[in-house]
Amino acid sequence: MCGIVGYIGNKKASPILINGLLRLEYRGYDSAGISTIEKEGLSLMKDKGRVKNLYNIEGIDNLEGTIGIAHTRWATHGKPSKENSHPHTDNSKTFSVVHNGIIENYNEIRKFLSEKGYSFYSQTDTEVIPNLVHYYYTQDVQTDNLKLLRAVKNACFDLKGSFAIEIICKDYPDNMIVVRKDSPLVIGKGDGENYISSDIPAILSFTRNFYFLEDLEFVVLSRNDITFYDRNLNPIKKETKTIEWNASSSEKDGYEDFMLKEIYEQPTAIRETVGAKFSEDSKCEFEELNFSKEYLESLNKIYIIACGTAMHAGLAGKNAIEKLCKIPTEVDIASEFRYRNPIIDNKTLCIFISQSGETADTIAALKLSKEKGAKTLAITNVIGSSITREADYSIYTHAGPEIAVASTKAYTSQVVLLVVLAIYFAEILGLENSYITSLKKEILELPKKIEEALKNSEIVKDFSKKVYQEKDMFFLGRGIDETVAKEGSLKLKEISYIHSESYPAGELKHGPIALIENGVTVISIMTDSNLVEKTVSNIQEVITRGAKTLVITNQNIDVNQFDMVIQIPDTNPLVSPILSIIPLQLFSYYISKEKGLDVDKPRNLAKSVTVE
Ligand code: G6P
Repeated sequence: MCGIVGYIGNKKASPILINGLLRLEYRGYDSAGISTIEKEGLSLMKDKGRVKNLYNIEGIDNLEGTIGIAHTRWATHGKPSKENSHPHTDNSKTFSVVHNGIIENYNEIRKFLSEKGYSFYSQTDTEVIPNLVHYYYTQDVQTDNLKLLRAVKNACFDLKGSFAIEIICKDYPDNMIVVRKDSPLVIGKGDGENYISSDIPAILSFTRNFYFLEDLEFVVLSRNDITFYDRNLNPIKKETKTIEWNASSSEKDGYEDFMLKEIYEQPTAIRETVGAKFSEDSKCEFEELNFSKEYLESLNKIYIIACGTAMHAGLAGKNAIEKLCKIPTEVDIASEFRYRNPIIDNKTLCIFISQSGETADTIAALKLSKEKGAKTLAITNVIGSSITREADYSIYTHAGPEIAVASTKAYTSQVVLLVVLAIYFAEILGLENSYITSLKKEILELPKKIEEALKNSEIVKDFSKKVYQEKDMFFLGRGIDETVAKEGSLKLKEISYIHSESYPAGELKHGPIALIENGVTVISIMTDSNLVEKTVSNIQEVITRGAKTLVITNQNIDVNQFDMVIQIPDTNPLVSPILSIIPLQLFSYYISKEKGLDVDKPRNLAKSVTVE
């Protein structure tokens, strides 16, 4: 999704801005641009295509301005083109604006401004913003130093939709204004310089001190000051938060791609996420939570709501909560949940999972659940993200920044945190037993077992080489393994562009088996001893029809019947997705590499989907 960077300080802004954009590339985009304040007025350099193309724009090396804004665009209104790229300016070229989000009433505003004589050069919703600011700016007869801020505020109050906006004005070479509503934006505080970004990793090498904004808080940045205003432009105080992430964790550290690095970071991510929440003989503790036995006993349902990979982690969470706590749990896709009038009341707990904490559908589903009286609990990887400001409670995965669009370490960290949460609930409910004791032991052994599972890398790579030209693949499993089949299939689609389907193994014969023919690749996951024989029978059905088979298992099976078997360490079924997904992550990765694709930035996808 669109990315925003801003800089105000004493250094040349343009290289810092471009560097910031390069670090936001992983979010997904199709055009890029920057605008700085120069002696002779505003510069505006932009084009469709990659950020590095900006270096080819004539004059970019001559920019001297020490204040500027920058943007990577992910097209929504208007195709990727130079005109539609941000920054956008008004007719008089007084203001430059970058925007992330969607202005839903832009047609109405465009009509209003056209009647006042304004013209438009792009198809974007964003272009109304600099012109509307210009309109209010010229209407204001006062000349005090809040004039620009007032114009921005008035314009923002006319906008419907979501936005994170940065504005610079040639009349104010020492100020930048930013505001957000339902769209991500962070402010990094430096020494004599300040930074803006859509997310933390892009500016982590400059500062660890961040400010997070609430909706419709306005910020005026100068080189030495950052002043915050509420929606009525009364000054307000804000505290910085220190981010502990290591700047080098947003670098590749010698790995060819972020995805591969993140796959290998999973032992650490799991270790850090489990942290000191329990030991083998102590109860689970979440310092952020204070659920009582009475409250948990009163629940008639838990919903787990998320999108994409986070939703798949939710399926493992449902399994754990139902098994350990006996509370009915449903998993819902956020974009569906928000429009299907779900049955929620104060006896419902809604858990939202989002790596980024910025996914628009998940946030909207959370707001709806709150309105309907449910308690809300967010699980995210990003401190200060929007979802944590909306939820009643927030707990964190400690996976570190995840840069590759295809989620890996965030998924496994979410699964482990959900299982630990289920144990925490079970212990409050007084349901602890020897099963939980041994589950805890297994959780503590996961980092070591992930390292074991990663040792299959070469075998997986070899198999990938045999099948990378396939057009279709199937992922099958039963019970918890079916949730992993879903995630494995999504990974493959996302980064290899191979069509794939995931199915409960027993459901195959009710339709999809019609698609199995000679040479089709079928991947199955078998980690549950109670179900392994059933799944083997289903795989026999596809072998009979000529399928090539890859099996991921921790069971003792006759390996000779399959084309390739990958053995992973045995563990408790509730956490088995954390091990069985590893070969599938590697499988998608190597197929994508074999096809020569951009693993970290797959086509059409965005890391953090901040629009509906
Ligand atoms: C996008 C990403 C997926 C991710 C999903 C949810 O679709 O491409 O990898 O799983 O968003 O993201 P979240 O940040 O809410 O976990």
